Amino acid sequence: MSDKIDRYAVFGNPVEHSKSPFIHACFAEQTGQQLEYTAERVEAGDFENAVARFAENNGKGLNITVPFKQEAWRLATRRSERAERAGAVNTLVINGKNDYYGDNTDGIGLTRDLTNNQKLQLQDKNILIVGAGGAVRGVIEPLLATRPASLTIANRTRQKALQLEHDFSDLGNVRGCGFDEFGSIDYDVIINGTSASLSGELPALPATLIHENTFCYDMMYATEATPFMRWAQLHGAKQVVDGKGMLVEQAAESFRIWRSCEPETAAVIEALARL
Ligand code: ATR
Repeated sequence: MSDKIDRYAVFGNPVEHSKSPFIHACFAEQTGQQLEYTAERVEAGDFENAVARFAENNGKGLNITVPFKQEAWRLATRRSERAERAGAVNTLVINGKNDYYGDNTDGIGLTRDLTNNQKLQLQDKNILIVGAGGAVRGVIEPLLATRPASLTIANRTRQKALQLEHDFSDLGNVRGCGFDEFGSIDYDVIINGTSASLSGELPALPATLIHENTFCYDMMYATEATPFMRWAQLHGAKQVVDGKGMLVEQAAESFRIWRSCEPETAAVIEALARL
């Protein structure tokens, strides 16, 4: 193995099915960058040591996925403002031994996919996001930055949604609620940010939320439509989209941070769909 090439990886568990090595290989080829990007399974309790070993082995940067994003946040010696708010880090820049800059590109990945790729205008729209875990926390600030009329966070466990309302209400019109408190708002955009799709489940949402023109988005990406996507289609939504574009856009933002160059995302999103 070459020890001179700049090394990057995604750390997670499980990580075997990660599409990140494919995406970053596409970006490197497009931009003529010499680098290696692999997916590395890290065992619980070994995260900090695994990062240190990687840094010693010409590691220049990492993507971090479930379940290590909060641990990466703690490990980062400096953090971007958006990572600070998110309480989670999905991108580490390794500057040297114990010198790790932490960022979070998930939120910008979502809003770029919605606005640039899906051509959605979010300003003055009523947005509903379902879920209140780490994935949702990471995208609230960039969603509010698009100036929606309102952002409602609905969660099975109501208290966690109320906590997010409390933590982000200085940034815009955000409200937390449970699954029985949707009120009379007509939502233009519904985003599923729960992990329910991972176990083939569907959040218990009322079908009355869906109209023909409701744009429905699942932050998850699978080769087939997720249960949320099938549910939205069944109830008449015409625009139903998965999180493939978000995945590629968050990767592109990480690539920019690491390599200071601009990858093209559209071709990679298409290539991913054909895999
Ligand atoms: P992640 O990092 O993916 O956000 P997480 O922090 O464990 O993971 O959060 C998972 C989210 O998915 C939570 O909002 C969870 O709801 P609860 O807070 O009520 O547990 C939500 N979730 C998972 N399975 C769900 C299901 N079957 N129906 C509704 N919500 C679900």
